[in-house]
Amino acid sequence: MQKIETVREMQALADKLRAKEQRIGFVPTMGALHAGHLSLVKLARAKADVVVVSIFVNPTQFGPSEDYSNYPRPLEHDLELCAEAGVDAIFLPPVAEIYPKGCSTFVIEEAVSKPLEGASRPTHFRGVATVVAKLFNIVRPHIVVFGQKDAQQVAVLKRMAADLHLPVKFVVAPIMREPDGLAMSSRNRYLTAVQREDSVVISQALRRAQEMVAGGEHRDDRLIAEVTHLLSQKRRVRVIYVAMVDKDTFEPLRVVVPGKTLLAIAAWVDEVRLIDNVEL
Ligand code: PAF
Repeated sequence: MQKIETVREMQALADKLRAKEQRIGFVPTMGALHAGHLSLVKLARAKADVVVVSIFVNPTQFGPSEDYSNYPRPLEHDLELCAEAGVDAIFLPPVAEIYPKGCSTFVIEEAVSKPLEGASRPTHFRGVATVVAKLFNIVRPHIVVFGQKDAQQVAVLKRMAADLHLPVKFVVAPIMREPDGLAMSSRNRYLTAVQREDSVVISQALRRAQEMVAGGEHRDDRLIAEVTHLLSQKRRVRVIYVAMVDKDTFEPLRVVVPGKTLLAIAAWVDEVRLIDNVEL
């Protein structure tokens, strides 16, 4: 596995691979890898000739009171996991490579990024869109794989790539869950045993909404009321939002539209912020 730290070297590798007509599959990450990330690598392997993973904890997507400096950085373990998963090249740039002194250009998506995560983390998607646009120009992938857990991130980035005419194909991998249903996340490692126990209510509430839809309930107010009620049963859980939205635009939906509807939750479990979603 090749380890690359500079933009110049990564672009040179991408040019070389493209000249040989090798298809580049790319998995952008912030490290702290888990089975969810490895499922993205597996998909990239299946769809491309060469797999590049980036590990970059992107400072611009963290708000001032968020966990940038404490974000987990278990680099050696991440490298072992990537090597075992058959990753060909790993891009590990220092912050100054991606944001050199004087850099003052940002990418702002102005619609899909506004509600839900955008409302509670106002500068988050500006940071995500900016770093991903940069990474696309550096890694020059044919295919990029993202996880459905960050559904709004996927929708924002698809919109950005379409708007900027970026020639990259998106592949979206299903959410990987722990045996009890909790969606896998790098932030789950912050949970204590009791918080971990309470956090399972998030996926249980989403499953309950799916059951209600299967039973004929299609109204957002009734689905959201039931989900909110279930979440409120756990002392450590505080709802940030429960919303039923169009999965591409993230505009609110009043009734379930089959194939287009997402039910999304963000909640604090004490001081750990978790998100999850299901299609309805
Ligand atoms: O999903 C993530 O890990 C990050 O938001 C991403 C896409 C790697 C950009 O920093």
